[in-house]
Amino acid sequence: MEKIRVELGERSYEILIDSGNLSLVGERLLRFSIGKKVAIVSNPTVAGYYADRVLNSLKKEGFDASLILIPDGEIYKDYFWGYHILTRLLEMGFDRKSCLIALGGGVIGDITGFVASIYMRGIPYVQIPTTLLAQVDSSVGGKTAVNHSLGKNMIGTFWQPALVWIDVESLDSLSEREFFSGLAEVIKYGVIWDSEFFEFLTNNREKILRRDKDILIAIIKRSCEIKSEVVSKDERDNFFRTILNYGHSIGHAIETLTNYSLYLHGEAISIGMVYEAKLANMLGFLDTEEFEKIRKTLKEYGLPVEMPSFIDKSAFIKAILLDKKNIHGKIRMVIPESIGKMKINFEVGEEELLRIING
Ligand code: NAD
Ligand code: GLY
Repeated sequence: MEKIRVELGERSYEILIDSGNLSLVGERLLRFSIGKKVAIVSNPTVAGYYADRVLNSLKKEGFDASLILIPDGEIYKDYFWGYHILTRLLEMGFDRKSCLIALGGGVIGDITGFVASIYMRGIPYVQIPTTLLAQVDSSVGGKTAVNHSLGKNMIGTFWQPALVWIDVESLDSLSEREFFSGLAEVIKYGVIWDSEFFEFLTNNREKILRRDKDILIAIIKRSCEIKSEVVSKDERDNFFRTILNYGHSIGHAIETLTNYSLYLHGEAISIGMVYEAKLANMLGFLDTEEFEKIRKTLKEYGLPVEMPSFIDKSAFIKAILLDKKNIHGKIRMVIPESIGKMKINFEVGEEELLRIING
């Protein structure tokens, strides 16, 4: 089993990564000072595959375990379904020592973390992420959220999990498209932090795409190490955590303009990474060879690398500049100087944005 510690003082916790460890969750939870009542939050898709394994392991260790299901989909990551979970917890008599377990992708992780943070002013929760994206990104770092009709992730808290429990075997049932989408975030870690890791990803494509367990453990571990280091430096996203947003300024604009329906998150971020690298190249920070390496690697992993041709240029620029980080008509972006080294808070205006989409 691989172990990473997220160092956050009294809020520190471990990320444990293994293959076939879902049936051991109950045993691990005995080490925590939590009560007997535990609820797994999941959706029917994920629960169909994995809920029994986790439920049985909890019951075996004497926990009073139950399952709360919400429908599958980003549109259900909202206040209404959060309220539904809160109601179930009250009905079941959950107290401040009771514990939640998020079993699913980022949607389940975000809403469960949010509920855990507000139920009786905060109860412990465990992340059991089952998508690659959730294993390398959303389950680590304590950002919780639900969506509002006026904006994605607009209602949320910082509430760190007590434990992140990763079973790479759970990725066996994940669709190829979702798997590739998660790989975009893995490649992002190479670009923002670690050129050797980037090379490793370029050189081991075949094994990664075969979902070889050892290699999955290795790439998830390195991704989680990098995310943990960033979060430990800047838990509340005040000055440095923004480095994780490489590819996201343009990626989010693409997601908004396509109503979050055409691209999966990692796919939009892949296009964003290419165009943000292109900007760095045009401005003379990133050399052309490195820009091409980023583009080629993403493409070889089956990810989109071109801006959709139907996107209206002025709507695109408006969408980027509408970002909450916009200051006096300029957006602060994270752009690569080289693979493994970033410029953060780089100010970009309309002129530069026009240059990248015009080529
Ligand atoms: P998701 O949770 O919607 O999961 C994608 C699909 O895969 C769903 O249909 C789900 O039911 C299914 N699925 C999950 N695990 C499976 C498995 N093992 N086998 C088969 N199917 C499985 O999407 P996601 O990409 O995991 O997460 C996206 C969400 O994460 C967004 O809401 C985003 O805002 C959030 N997010 C949060 C953070 C954070 O720091 N909190 C970071 C990145 C993304
Ligand atoms: N996914 C970005 C963050 O955790 O800050």
